[in-house]
Formats: sequence, C-alpha cells, structure tokens
Amino acid sequence: MRPWVAVLALWPVLRGAARQSPTFPSITDEAFIEECVRVHNDLRREVQPPASNMRYMTWDEALARTARAWANKCIFEHNIYLRKKHQCHPNFTSIGENIWAGSHQIFKAADAIKSWYSEVKFYTFADQKCTKTCGHYTQVVWDYSYKVGCAVTLCKKVAGIRNAANFVCNYSPRFINENSQFFKSIDYKSDEFVLASY
Ligand SMILES: *[C@@H]1O[C@H](CO)[C@@H](O)[C@H](O)[C@H]1NC(C)=O
Repeated sequence: MRPWVAVLALWPVLRGAARQSPTFPSITDEAFIEECVRVHNDLRREVQPPASNMRYMTWDEALARTARAWANKCIFEHNIYLRKKHQCHPNFTSIGENIWAGSHQIFKAADAIKSWYSEVKFYTFADQKCTKTCGHYTQVVWDYSYKVGCAVTLCKKVAGIRNAANFVCNYSPRFINENSQFFKSIDYKSDEFVLASY
C-alpha cells in the first residue's frame, strides 16, 4: 500500500478519536496508584547487582499533589519549587522529579516509567559512569528513595506535542550524585508520536 493510501484509510479513525476528549486517572485513582508503585518496585528489584538495602517505594499523597500541580502547568521544565524547603512537601526537603510527555493516545504510566528505566543501557554500575542520559534511571532505582507520587494531565501542548499526556513523578529523597543534577533527553520513537522525558 502506498503511504498516502494508508493515511486516507486512517483519517476516519483519527477523526473519531479526536471527538472524544481523553480522560486520565486522577491521583486518587487506586489502579493508577497501584500501577505507579508496582512498576517502580518491579524495576527496582531488577537492578544488577542487587542493592543490599533497596527500600520499597510507597505512594505519597503530598508528592502526588505536587506532581499534579506542576503537571497542570504544562511546562516541559522541572518544578522550580523543588529546592525551596517545604514548598512541595510538609516533611520532605529533598525531592526528585521525572517528567514524561507524549501523545495522549500512547500514554501508559507503566511504559513511561519503563522508558526512564531504559536509560540503564547508558549506565555502568562499576564506575557509576553515564554515557548519555541516566538521571531518570538513577532516580527510579536509587535504593535510598522510598516515596513516590505521580500525576498525569492532558496538555494542549507540551514539549512541542499537541494533546499530550504530561506525566510527572516526584520522589523523596532525591537521587544525589555530584556528577549529575538533572538530565535532559528527547527521544523520537516514531514519526507519528514524539516522546520526551525531562
Ligand atoms: C508529616 O509528618 C508528620 C509527623 O510525623 C505526620 O503526622 C504527617 O502525616 C506527615 N505529612 C505528610 C504529608 O507526610
């Protein structure tokens, strides 16, 4: 089939999809919370060599509220209040953040979290060196972090993507490594869908 034939065939499908406005789970949605927590812990268990004192991550409502407030701004930057004490959490002062933005059609919390973890391929445990981008990965698997709260919002436009899912996870404590502050990466997975992590 020639490309333009395929495009014409897809048109009615896309028009149908555009009419329904996508709805994303709220930060109190039990299935969403379970998915976010489970996927983080599953990935943390896969770390090689295994961490001797890997802490089990649990949900934190206050971190989720901070993630939601920032996700709602639809800005593809890190939350500027994270380093200001007690602005993002009543008790935690060290808060980390991963952000994923992509077409709303493809959003799955599990896939977004796994995309952060996939930076493991750039990371060498032995000398803790990173050849490209590792900050999302190290935050997901850092043994010392034990709290997570995530939120997803529909944005008209974020990171150059229209009708995007903007998915933010906040963590405590924040991964610390003097060689790495925040990492930026933009991945193009296919022509139709642009994925981005910040
Ligand atoms: C903050 O700490 C206090 C005292 O330990 C606790 O009662 C409260 O639930 C904590 N708040 C949050 C949002 O974790």
